[in-house]
Amino acid sequence: MKTHSVALVPGDGIGVAVTEAAWQVLQRAAAQGGFGLDGEIFDWSCDRYLETGRMMPEDGIETLSRFDAILLGAVGWPAKVPDSVSLHGLLLPIRKAFDQYANIRPHRLLPGVEGPLRKEGFDILCIRENTEGEYSGAGGRVHQGTDAEVAVETAIFTRRGVERIMRFGFEQARRRRGRLASVTKSNAQKYSMVFWDEVTRELAAEYPDVEVTSYHIDAIAARFVMAPETLDVVVASNLFGDILTDLGAAIQGGLGFAASANINPARTAPSMFEPVHGSAPDIAHLGIANPVAAIWSGAMLLEHLGETEAAERVIAAIERTTAAGIGAVPGRHRTEEITAAVLNALD
Ligand code: NAD
Ligand code: IPM
Ligand code: MN
Repeated sequence: MKTHSVALVPGDGIGVAVTEAAWQVLQRAAAQGGFGLDGEIFDWSCDRYLETGRMMPEDGIETLSRFDAILLGAVGWPAKVPDSVSLHGLLLPIRKAFDQYANIRPHRLLPGVEGPLRKEGFDILCIRENTEGEYSGAGGRVHQGTDAEVAVETAIFTRRGVERIMRFGFEQARRRRGRLASVTKSNAQKYSMVFWDEVTRELAAEYPDVEVTSYHIDAIAARFVMAPETLDVVVASNLFGDILTDLGAAIQGGLGFAASANINPARTAPSMFEPVHGSAPDIAHLGIANPVAAIWSGAMLLEHLGETEAAERVIAAIERTTAAGIGAVPGRHRTEEITAAVLNALD
């Protein structure tokens, strides 16, 4: 029997409950699909930081590199550890170390879910550059605490980085409805975003079958609300993509529905699957976190491992669950009830 190894990093807050939910569903899907899933749990989190002074052990990346995939919950608990420490000690280094340059986030309404818009027929695939841009980590501070204090954080865009994310987007667009929206801000950012637009145009020439439109980030943010049905694949830089995908989550009914995959398309290292949302300290321990985003991310993990049929069954089970009204309205059902309903729908 074919067995895949999965590193489980539940992290903080609701990350723990939603990872547990997703793992139960994945294991059931594996049992039904006749393949194995071997999970190992790593308690890397803010609590661990308070005990050991590190979010993950020094050889954490090396440890994770031995797995076929990573399922992550959420990282961060600002009341215990500053976000600038916790995220740079766990989540962000994994994306970079494993060259998971394509962060894929689908935004569509599941059956039975009422989004805040008077719109239903949208199906957007956001593809966010995940290793450079505004998250490059190049910068510094001097004269700290004085009137002369300076803080610099430089966004870095490389030809390799922009080309490969854009190419990834074009390939996805080709497999979907053939439309690509490139998210820019070249009216104000005359170096990086003008370069981004140039690379977009160069690649567009290689994909004559894909219809390309460049939108400024401010305009496409409005379009997500006013006319999301006009969008198909959306390619954005790291920070623009981060912001747009919480907006995407909002129009699909809330953060509890938004899934994501951090993909290393070259498969030189494991890819990582996690919901778009964070640790939600405001509702952690209440038992009401929506596990759908994490379960859907788990389906993306199965798909990446080549277990396409099992992935499709998990998505269908989620859809049957929300169509029956369970987990469709945020806060109405408990995490366990929604998970049980998805497990039931799988059978
Ligand atoms: P958040 O996504 O945790 O929460 C935003 C709002 O959405 C909250 O009101 C929360 O209750 C709600 N929410 C989120 N997920 C939900 C779910 N599954 N079901 C129901 N409601 C849900 O964002 P935040 O409050 O800005 O961040 C909290 C912490 O998480 C911070 O430390 C932040 O840095 C971190 N964070 C981590 C990740 C990640 O690990 N990928 C992503 C985003 C934020
Ligand atoms: C996300 C999160 C992270 C990001 C944070 C927690 C660093 O918001 O995955 O969307 O900005 O990438
Ligand atoms: Mn985000």
